[in-house]
Amino acid sequence: MGSPRIKGNTDLLLDEALKGARGQGAEVEKVIVDKLNIAPCREYYGCVKDGNCVIRDDMDNIYPKLLAADRVIVASPIFFYGLTSQVKALIDRCQALWARKYILKQSLPDSDRKGAFIAVGATRGKKLFDGSILTVKYFFKAISVEYVDELLVPGVDKRGEIKEHPTALSDAFELGRRLVQI
Ligand SMILES: Cc1cc2nc3c(=O)[nH]c(=O)nc-3n(C[C@H](O)[C@H](O)[C@H](O)COP(=O)(O)O)c2cc1C
Repeated sequence: MGSPRIKGNTDLLLDEALKGARGQGAEVEKVIVDKLNIAPCREYYGCVKDGNCVIRDDMDNIYPKLLAADRVIVASPIFFYGLTSQVKALIDRCQALWARKYILKQSLPDSDRKGAFIAVGATRGKKLFDGSILTVKYFFKAISVEYVDELLVPGVDKRGEIKEHPTALSDAFELGRRLVQI
């Protein structure tokens, strides 16, 4: 969950998606990135030596979770046409996993791992989600997760405004359900 706003639009959508997944028997864990201490990548490049980041912070707990998950959902509001800096920091720190795969040629657990992207933004521009989709696709590729689904909701701004949207919450529930069934 990449939004700092608890019970905000992203949070509510993700909760529905997780409800949908749980209904299919999935064991789910929601990570609220804003509550974690995750430094941005500092380009120390320790990871190219052994696949591990040299920075010690809450990413220590995130790497094993990301590698163990059968399904991954990134959920984020759009901030300046991108993901929030909270979730972007987490993604950038996955350069360590990128290094394992592409530099050290280690195999990541890649069998049947799939992922989806949920995003909300206030405006309705045609390219509102384009940059973030590219980021999430490249992130998933680096951690050997296939990008299979997305829910992109424009025109939603105030906290909880998503509840007034005619379909978004049920769409999120369905996304969560599909992601387990696929
Ligand atoms: C720092 C900041 C940057 C934002 N940038 C954009 C933007 O580029 N495009 C857009 O449509 N909405 C933008 N928004 C609006 C949020 O995407 C919108 O309020 C969203 O509903 C917030 O979701 P949340 O409740 O899950 O945090 C921005 C909001 C903030 C706080």
